[in-house]
Formats: sequence, structure tokens, C-alpha cells
Amino acid sequence: MTDRPGATIAGTGSFVPEKVLANSDLAKIVDTSDEWITVRTGIKQRRIASEGQTTATMAVKACRQALEDAAVAAEDVQAIICATITPEMPLPATACFIQDQLGAAGAAAFDIAAACSGFVYGLEVGKLFIESGRYDNVLVVGSETLSRITDYQDRASCILFGDGAGAVLLRATNDAQRRILYTHLESDGQKWDMLQLPGGGSRYPMSQRVLDERMQYMKIQGRAIYKFAVNAMQELIADAMKACNLSVDDIKLIVPHQVNQRIIDSAMEKLGFPKERVYVNIDRYGNTSSASVPIALDEARRTGKIGAGDTLVMVAFGGGLTWASAVARL
Ligand code: ACO
Repeated sequence: MTDRPGATIAGTGSFVPEKVLANSDLAKIVDTSDEWITVRTGIKQRRIASEGQTTATMAVKACRQALEDAAVAAEDVQAIICATITPEMPLPATACFIQDQLGAAGAAAFDIAAACSGFVYGLEVGKLFIESGRYDNVLVVGSETLSRITDYQDRASCILFGDGAGAVLLRATNDAQRRILYTHLESDGQKWDMLQLPGGGSRYPMSQRVLDERMQYMKIQGRAIYKFAVNAMQELIADAMKACNLSVDDIKLIVPHQVNQRIIDSAMEKLGFPKERVYVNIDRYGNTSSASVPIALDEARRTGKIGAGDTLVMVAFGGGLTWASAVARL
């Protein structure tokens, strides 16, 4: 025991829309095939939000589960951090819609835009809020409606993305063992153009030109991201293990950003991690950006892959470029 408060993951939750978009469905709208997508990415299907399902409505469902899991009432939440690149609208923050719909009266609420790393960025912010003594209960949620910014005429990107939300309730603890032990955030803005959605911001305000040039959709340099991601995943995990003095055997589960099965396999092979200790659900959900790590974390907990006392490493990277990692003992 120690007097300094830490942040523990007291509850998790997730939500994915019911509607399934299979590889075979995509093969009807772009020149691709189930085999190409499966072999190159590991994705078989992804979930797509229906009309009326939005980033905030999905986030609220995930947050309610996390609160129930932690046995914390909405009115006891003091801060809500929403990681998203598909906000409800540019103004106000999606976190404010979540605050209202949860009934978390008076909670601080704001968004983080760090693309696929957003949830892990949010974890560090929530952890520091708690460690400073400022708050006792912080909700961190990653929620994305990527189907609304995906170009379904671009076969190189539309096969990758899906919708969903995942959340954790961080709670203050004095237990020095069972808490978030480590977080690390980084970025390289020189490589901003590797993953971008140029339209609709101050550089290219919404206009007919934005629509004509399809600038309202994500543009990715898949090959370049692939190379970056393999190295980033491997280095982030190795650095986190070193910082926490952990061996492969000390880690019960790696919860990686669900970017591409081949990227995950390649990084894990280099690190010597057995496949059964790496959580993967990319086959069912594709890449859900900031929702990817918290959905995987929630599923891993609910299926008993990790539990009380287990150590896990979370790792994510994405547009910005940004990258981030966290080590937690549940
Ligand atoms: N179906 C069939 N063929 C395709 C498809 C498709 N859906 N997409 C591309 N191709 C073709 C290309 O046109 C190219 O053809 P060519 O050789 O005749 O020119 C060929 O397949 C190879 O294309 P590459 O882009 O080199 O394929 P690669 O093996 O790199 O796979 C992929 C592409 C899946 C996007 C991969 O690069 C990847 O996973 N990248 C990283 C993930 C990523 O970019 N995520 C975006 C979000 S960022 C993040 O989450 C960190």
C-alpha cells in the first residue's frame, strides 16, 4: 500500500452496432475479394452503424456498461474523456453529449483527437487526473463511426474500417500493485499526410470542391503505415516491458490496436509472444480506430482472458502520426 493515489481500471464496457458488413458485401461494391481482404488484413467482417446510431449513442452504451461493471453511479463521474476522430459534430465535444445522456451532472467533458492512439492518450490523461488527486472517477471512452468518413469507392481503405465503442472507468486506488503502471505517448507531425481527412476543417472548409475531390473521406498511405506500424508495435511493447521490468512471462495479455493481422503477427513473432496471449478481434470488427483497444480490452475481460491481478500491455498507433502504450495490472 502507498499513500499516493493511482488509477485502476475498475470497469470496462463496449458496444458494436448490429449491422454486419462482410467481405463478400464489399466485393459487390469495389473490385476486391474475400480472399484478398482475409489474406492481407485478417478481416472477415466489420460492424456498421445504422441510421440514428452515432459516436455519442454508441459511447453511452459502452460507458453505461463500464459504470455498471465498476458499480459506480453516473453522478459520481467527475470527468469524461472521449477519444474520437468521428465526433458527433465539430461543436460541441462528443463528451458533452455523453455527459448529458449518462446524467453525469457537472462532470468535466472533452474530446481527444489522436486517431487510433486516442484511447491510450485518454488513459494517460485520466490517470494523471487521478494521480494528482483532482478526481476519483474518470470515464475514458473511444468511440468511432468510421463508416461515415470511409470512401466506399476506394478499395484500398474501405475494406479496413468498422464502427463501435469501448470504455473504461478509472478509479482512484491506494493499491500500488493493481493500477495503471505505465503510459507513454509520442507523435511525429511531419508524417501527418500518411493518414488524413482533409475536408471540412479550417484549411479546406466544406465546399463543393471538398465534395468533388472526396476530401470528406479518409485518405491513407497503407504501405507506409504498414511499415511504420510493424516497427512501432514492436518498439512500444519492448520499451514498456523494459520500463516496468517485465518479461514475456510476466504479461498475461497484449491488447494491440486492431490494425492488421499481419502487422500484429509480425511484431509478436519478433518479440517472442505466443499467439494465445495476444487479443485479436480484427476478423469480426476490422479497424475501429480509437475504439479498437477498449473493445478488445472489454472482450478480453468478459471472456476471462484477463482478470484480477493480471498484467496487460495496450499499444496503439495511428494518424498524426501518433503512438502510445500503457501497462496495467487489473
Ligand atoms: N482488393 C484487391 N486488391 C487491392 C485492394 C483490395 N481491397 N486494395 C489494394 N489492392 C491492390 C493494389 O491496387 C495493389 O495492386 P498493384 O500491385 O496492381 O498496384 C496491390 O493490391 C497491393 O497493394 P498494397 O497497398 O501494396 O497492399 P498491402 O499488402 O500493403 O495491403 C493494406 C494494403 C491492407 C492497406 C496494408 O497496407 C495495411 O494494412 N496497411 C496498414 C493499415 C492501415 O493503413 N490502416 C489505416 C489506418 S491507420 C492505423 O490504424 C494505424
